[in-house]
Amino acid sequence: MHDNKKNQELMDKITSLCKRRGFIYQGSEIYGGLAGTWDYGPLGVALKENIKALWRKQFVYNREDMYEVDAALLMNPKVWEASGHVAGFSDPLTECTQCKRRFRADQLEDPTKCPECDGALGEPRQFNMMFKTQIGAMEDSSSIAYFRPETAQGMFVNFKNVIDSFHPKLPFGMAQIGKAFRNEITPRDFIFRVREFEQMEIEYFIHESQWEATFEEWRKGMHEWMRTIGLPEKNIHELEVPKDDLAHYSKRTIDFEFDFPFGRKELYGLAYRTDFDLQNHSQASTVELTYLDEEAKEKIVPHVIEPTFGLDRTVLAILTAAYHEDEKDGEVRSFLKLKPQIAPVICAVSPLLKNKPELVAKAREVFTLLKEKFGRVMWDDNGNIGKRYRRQDEIGTPWCIVVDFDTLGEGGDALRDTVTVRDRDSGQQTRVAIDALLTTIATHLK
Ligand code: GAP
Repeated sequence: MHDNKKNQELMDKITSLCKRRGFIYQGSEIYGGLAGTWDYGPLGVALKENIKALWRKQFVYNREDMYEVDAALLMNPKVWEASGHVAGFSDPLTECTQCKRRFRADQLEDPTKCPECDGALGEPRQFNMMFKTQIGAMEDSSSIAYFRPETAQGMFVNFKNVIDSFHPKLPFGMAQIGKAFRNEITPRDFIFRVREFEQMEIEYFIHESQWEATFEEWRKGMHEWMRTIGLPEKNIHELEVPKDDLAHYSKRTIDFEFDFPFGRKELYGLAYRTDFDLQNHSQASTVELTYLDEEAKEKIVPHVIEPTFGLDRTVLAILTAAYHEDEKDGEVRSFLKLKPQIAPVICAVSPLLKNKPELVAKAREVFTLLKEKFGRVMWDDNGNIGKRYRRQDEIGTPWCIVVDFDTLGEGGDALRDTVTVRDRDSGQQTRVAIDALLTTIATHLK
């Protein structure tokens, strides 16, 4: 089969699994949807939260030099003037003279011909991607505000607050996880390019002289992160962004690209933002955004290295890398090979038969024990055991635990109070004592 067709089929399978099993739904679906928006269902929320928790662990809690903030989505419009976004945060837009559809000019194979109706395309013009809104009851220009197109500015405007509250020593970083909004001309590829998404960003403040060494450290840190979440190294590629394509604030950027089924596309970025943002905000706000270097006895404006991670693209990369199919006894099985730390459900607990009260009571005991410890544990007594395994495989549950008659001691004392633990990837079943379950699973989670 042609590769493009195969890849499209793979995307269709993943999109359909996400909807069917409650990971990701189309935004406002019952009204026909809203382009560029997606809603996360219970399993999608769990997946995202697990990713965020790992990110916080690696980049905030395991370090002593990181300060996390959660700034408002709406910011004073002067922020976006000073940051350069009002003047420069735009993509080239072109309109078909015939059907009037609009496209991103730099994404077209032929920039002169409409891909929908073959009509002639007009001259591209710059289209600002920020979402405008009105604050309060006045409807004049003084009430215009923007939803933030990046979380970064929420950190720059709180730089002085963090310095005043915590007196950190350089180098130190600020971190933020939160929503960002961009009025993309052509949202596409499921949750890859959307209008409302989440970012996990770090602004790491340094002495200017340290920028190259720090850039290298973060480059390694980002690779380590991608290993942590289970992205195959062979699917990750670094792109040195050419000087002419750099964002208005960047002196150097590396894009980390990932082999998605629809092509090699940007997953994350690492940028050297110099002192561009702090200098501009100092000037525009007239509030001094400096750091007192006690050794040199002088105030300096720190420079910044920015590692940025799109959360929705992380979810998509993880799902596409984790999706597997194999064949057993002539039946195709689809399963998500998710790392246990990331899987929405760590384990599912079942009684072998749901109409045997003694099995159900024992299974409930095991379920409660695990649920209290790990939280992400599911009770599953629907259909036969084979069907339960398939259902759990499809959502990436690493282990299924079954309470059977041996657990009750009917097969002899040696197996009493043991359960079957079935491994998602190999399908292998082992017998584990209930007493040892917590430590066995906790060890795997580490
Ligand atoms: N603060 C720097 C910044 O925002 P960016 O490259 O424009 O840089 C950072 O965005 C990351 O945000 C991207 O690498 C990507 O993961 C994610 N991202 C950007 N636009 C997106 C969109 N329309 N939909 C989903 N994720 C997006």
